[in-house]
Amino acid sequence: MSNDIIKVTVECAPNIALIKYWGKSDEDLILPLNGSISITLDTSVLRTRTTLTLSRTGKQLTEVYLSLNGVVEEFDDSSSSSKEKSVGSDSDGKVNKKRFFRMLERARASSQLDDPFAFNRIDIVSDNDFPLACGLASSASGFACLALCMASAFRCDRNKLDATELARLGSGSACRSCLGGFVKWSSGDERSSLATQLFGADHWPELNILAVVFQEHRKKVSSTAGMKETVRTSELLGRRVELVEQERLGQMETYLRERDFVNFAKLTMKDSNTFHAVCMDTYPPLFYLNDYSKQLIGLVNEFNRLSVNDDDLSIKVAYSFDAGPNAFLFVLDKNLNELLYLINTIYFRSSKDFASKFVLKSKSS
Ligand code: PMV
Repeated sequence: MSNDIIKVTVECAPNIALIKYWGKSDEDLILPLNGSISITLDTSVLRTRTTLTLSRTGKQLTEVYLSLNGVVEEFDDSSSSSKEKSVGSDSDGKVNKKRFFRMLERARASSQLDDPFAFNRIDIVSDNDFPLACGLASSASGFACLALCMASAFRCDRNKLDATELARLGSGSACRSCLGGFVKWSSGDERSSLATQLFGADHWPELNILAVVFQEHRKKVSSTAGMKETVRTSELLGRRVELVEQERLGQMETYLRERDFVNFAKLTMKDSNTFHAVCMDTYPPLFYLNDYSKQLIGLVNEFNRLSVNDDDLSIKVAYSFDAGPNAFLFVLDKNLNELLYLINTIYFRSSKDFASKFVLKSKSS
């Protein structure tokens, strides 16, 4: 590596929120109203790979060249960015210019390079190996890769900058994808709203995650736009924030620590439901679930109810839905085959209506 070029490559995977983030207290700094907890998928199953190259040009202006999934991209210069407009996106999205330069400014400010401003040509090449239709947005893994690349290439001082802060400036939930395993992103201010690992990827190897994809195309209302409207109009949101901060984050951490599937499953479903309730309480209402999602919720409940013991201990599967109709299901090894059989029989043998087959089985490790 010459002194005039610094090249870094990083891989990250998407994450799935168990306790969800919805609503910002600061739009520019991307500070969440409540903390959240997620599980990061395995990079051997799903990954974004980003290579960032810094070069000295001797010019004044910073030049940035982006290639996403093999396509040269321009920045999105509009004031807001959607979830799909992300580095590594597999949609037709672009990278939001304002957010990118905010990240760059922050990385340069904590750089230990002699002259971080001398490296003013930046080449970013990012691609995803996601299955074509896994129902996961790539913004989290994309911005996590970009942040880790920037922090490393600019030799950022860890005492001055946590890479998860940098990722958060790109896309909120991206800060959780900087770390593997079970991750918490805390609410707080500019410096304290960071992601930390609660438990490593091998903490709960019996836990499987399935994605059931009902719709592959982009959602109508992005998470950025949707949560802004929720903050503006929903009266229920305040109660949800209170519940999450005062009870749910602590409870989820305990259930994960104890690998208590029944309580983990109940809380995961409850939090997904509360999130969609505040979406519906937004004016005009946000409907991210569709009829297939609702049918699947019914199926999961029935599956749990018909289990051997008709009590809480019979909970075998949990669902969670982000800002879209696709489901994530959580199930332990011992119940996996039964669930797979059911999903395949009900959805993929009896119906041709679905956009895609059941596509993903991912372990958390
Ligand atoms: O950070 P964003 O803009 O991708 O928003 C993420 C919102 C949810 O996926 C619905 C919840 C979450 O915590 O990931």
